Amino acid sequence: MEIKRVGIVGSGIMGSGVAEVASKAGFEVTLRSRSDEGAQSMVAGLGKSLAKQVEKGKLDDAERAAVQGRVRTVTDLGELADCDLVLESIVEDLPTKKELFGELDRICGDGAILATNTSTLSVKDIAGATGRPEKVCGVHFFNPATVLPLVELVRAEKTSDDTIAAARAFAESCGKTVVDVRDQAGFVVNALLFPYLNNAVKLLAGGVASRDDIDAAMKGGCNFPMGPLELLDLVGLDTSLAIIEALHAEFEDPNYEPAPMLRDLVKDEKLGRKSGAGFYDYVKK
Ligand code: CAA
Repeated sequence: MEIKRVGIVGSGIMGSGVAEVASKAGFEVTLRSRSDEGAQSMVAGLGKSLAKQVEKGKLDDAERAAVQGRVRTVTDLGELADCDLVLESIVEDLPTKKELFGELDRICGDGAILATNTSTLSVKDIAGATGRPEKVCGVHFFNPATVLPLVELVRAEKTSDDTIAAARAFAESCGKTVVDVRDQAGFVVNALLFPYLNNAVKLLAGGVASRDDIDAAMKGGCNFPMGPLELLDLVGLDTSLAIIEALHAEFEDPNYEPAPMLRDLVKDEKLGRKSGAGFYDYVKK
């Protein structure tokens, strides 16, 4: 099947990033946000990001207008009815995702693929909320989606070959490199990355080194583009905690026990860049 219209549910960091990537690749994108404010902030963010690329000479004005013109924001889920592929990018919470997939199953055409951007939840469980598990798969982008080249393609128990082929073609059209992964918490990247990030918080809490020195150590010692505490702030501390908890639940390994300091920051609503404070403070530009 050919994918032309892409629906995205969720206007957070990932949903907005994927909307930009898909629109740049020429897809007609309908992005659903629960609120008008969410939709407006996504549109403003897209405008800013595209303006920066025009400034850098990576896009011209006509391309910028075309990319913007291909993204429509809506608040009513029913507006996704004519999409060929809907990618969900909402909160990492299984009951919430299952409810959404049940609704999408009722709303979308029989041929539509329903994909999830989950990083740790079971795609099989999400697919079980629909009457079309063969048309459900994971298409996992990385943050920032506009820059990072990878997509993990997740085949759940009943996903069909046609669904995998169409989802792969979509991700590749978006310019991404695709790796095939099994339906297991964390897939490859997060199963390796999040124990490392969690242990960085434990080192900070244990006084082994300061925040800045932990980040400087991993940038200088491993040539990583960001230190672990900066990266946690970028991903979002609430999202990160949900990922670490899911890994802990799946593998029952004490090494995956969430760092208490991470829980405390989330409790204090210090969620990283998106809330203005996390391990670092951020001034909204
Ligand atoms: N479209 C296209 N290109 C863009 C862009 C956009 N919207 N926004 C930025 N870019 C380009 C920039 O132009 C720049 O390219 P040039 O150097 O050729 O000009 C490049 O991308 C880098 O952008 P910046 O200069 O703005 O930023 P930077 O160099 O400081 O890098 C960073 C920032 C990309 C975030 C980098 O620090 C990085 O890669 N960090 C690691 C991120 C990471 O590990 N993410 C994974 C998180 S885990 C995850 O996502 C999984 C999950 O499920 C939670």
